[in-house]
Amino acid sequence: MLFGTDYYPEHWDRERWSIDAKLMKKAGINVVRLAEFAWVLLEPEQDKFEFEWLDEAIEVLASEGIKSVLGTPTAAPPKWLMDKHPEIYPVDREGRVKGFGARHHRCHNSPVYKEHVKRIVKKIAEHYSDNENIAGWQIDNEIGCHDTTRCYCDNCLKAFKVWAKEKYNGKIAALNEAWGTNFWGQGLGSFDEIYLPKFSTCEHDKSNKGFSPGLLLDYNRFSSDSAIDYQNRQIKIIRSLSDKPITHNTMQGFVFSDIDYFKLGKELDVIGYDNYPFVGMYYSDFQKMHQYNAAGLAEARGFKNKNFWIMEQQSGNFGWGFYFGKYAPGQLRLWTYQSIAQGAEGIFYFRWRPCTYGSEQYWFGILDHDGIPRKRYKEISQTGSELQKVSDFIEGSKVHADVAIIKDYDNQWAHSICSHSPKLKFNDLYYQYHAGAYKNNIGIDFVSIGSDLSKYKVVLAPAFNVMNETIKRVFEEYVLNGGNLVISFLSGTRKKDNSVVTETFPGFFKEMAGIEVVDVDPLARETHVTGESIDGTASIWLDDIEVKEAEILARYNEGLMNGKPSITVNRFGTGKVYYVGCKLDDSSTEQLIKQIADDAGVISYLSRNYENVEVVKKIKGDKEYLMILNHGVTPVSIELEGKYRELITDSYIDDELELSAFGVAMITK
Ligand code: GLA
Ligand code: ZN
Repeated sequence: MLFGTDYYPEHWDRERWSIDAKLMKKAGINVVRLAEFAWVLLEPEQDKFEFEWLDEAIEVLASEGIKSVLGTPTAAPPKWLMDKHPEIYPVDREGRVKGFGARHHRCHNSPVYKEHVKRIVKKIAEHYSDNENIAGWQIDNEIGCHDTTRCYCDNCLKAFKVWAKEKYNGKIAALNEAWGTNFWGQGLGSFDEIYLPKFSTCEHDKSNKGFSPGLLLDYNRFSSDSAIDYQNRQIKIIRSLSDKPITHNTMQGFVFSDIDYFKLGKELDVIGYDNYPFVGMYYSDFQKMHQYNAAGLAEARGFKNKNFWIMEQQSGNFGWGFYFGKYAPGQLRLWTYQSIAQGAEGIFYFRWRPCTYGSEQYWFGILDHDGIPRKRYKEISQTGSELQKVSDFIEGSKVHADVAIIKDYDNQWAHSICSHSPKLKFNDLYYQYHAGAYKNNIGIDFVSIGSDLSKYKVVLAPAFNVMNETIKRVFEEYVLNGGNLVISFLSGTRKKDNSVVTETFPGFFKEMAGIEVVDVDPLARETHVTGESIDGTASIWLDDIEVKEAEILARYNEGLMNGKPSITVNRFGTGKVYYVGCKLDDSSTEQLIKQIADDAGVISYLSRNYENVEVVKKIKGDKEYLMILNHGVTPVSIELEGKYRELITDSYIDDELELSAFGVAMITK
């Protein structure tokens, strides 16, 4: 299996390269990612190429048996190019040109940039396509990072006009209808009048700044498509010259969702994913870190519904000008196993050695600044040698999941355009539902609406609001044939043009759910919710539900809606539709999903829940095994039934598994 690191030989003297290669080999590293930002070093002046240094680096590494994945260096357009064509710089909403000095300083729609990208990518691919030491390709770097998916330059305006004309088949009336331009007299006479949602007059209103929600959703789709097209042009060039796998390093779904990664993944051979568990901590709550991280990894698995590579796996503390992430001994190993558990089958640690200069001085590596291997090197070497022993179980294995959660970018974007309540954060709700399965030791996949839902016993679609008749039929078919669908407040309430439905809420789901929502409290205080197997609270959002066909599972137990239904279930065909009319607290969400999963015949992998323990069931050929990870700082002992073989230590356990703090086990019958 690929066990590697991100290496920047250009940051170090050549004499050091062979020392690094030897140290890597000793640590079990068999692959590196190179040259990701090295455009100016490969082409210091236009059409003057210098490959000699990279040839040598690849050679030095190869002499220790280490292969190279090459990054296309297009996230770092050189200064000479920017001086020649300043129109490549991206522009922000306020019309400010983003200048030189960092990276990603390019607009995805710049025609002149596309030409230069073509030249450098072709040149690199031609130069290295026959090199037997090349193991694959990575396109660009985290496309859209640093808020660069959306650009407001003249090239984007032009491209948006073309995109819209195509989408609306040249019919401006159709666009006017979709964008609802009758409101505030915003009607457009032709596609030439199309504009970008730049700085305008309603900036005080954070909810959508006065723009048409239809326009904003289209603009998000267009920006995502632009980024994907930018990637795909590079893929096409490389694929015409090389048969090695092509990847792109995507970012964690809970911090970045500007690009539709299902679409982006289509042309890639393998999804790449950058896994920094502490980014999760930085943006959310520490307790939720491993759950969010598991979710991010499972999403990466979902984008192509197959195993993926970690192009950047956290290898230590991190930060740029200051530290903002800290690891504890044992966690680097644990997090690597978490990646593997959730479907990674290639690992590249970011980075080999922290750079002494540049903006990321405190973003750590396997080595320290002084180049000396210490505890991280040891921990990662140990992890690597363990992984090679169990690689047969890992490579080609499948994660088992009986539950799916629908990941859908139209929905994600619609929620960021109109958050419905100032207090509602869609991601909090969405990942809370993921946690409902995860914390109950139940396998869960992230799937697109177009995938085969029939293999899942339970499908979660919380606040899934942007729909059309086709999507409605997908859900109907799933439930009619015995599926268990869980929807919530706001589900089914919007159309694909981001307008609100005229049917009584839950709109598209009204018949399926067998209820009607007659009022909402979108600013609700904490309210007691009780039912046969629920005793918890809800806040932020409470629906006022009138039951038509459905059965009541829980009611509000105080406040203005005291006694009214809060959670319902409706039989539809041979399946069931659960409607959760409020934003529950974490623990009642877990209780509810457990109840629904039990009812649907989903079996938890462990006999009870353990705090901070993650369990994933994997299948390889005719073998099944569980990966059990203790993210907690205290040891835990897990009850099992019968005798198991532990694969990492190749030992046997009976009825009980002892896991140390940050301990990991892979067990099979
Ligand atoms: C991202 C990038 C890397 C590096 C790290 C640390 O993940 O892909 O190049 O910049 O962040 O900031
Ligand atoms: Zn632009």
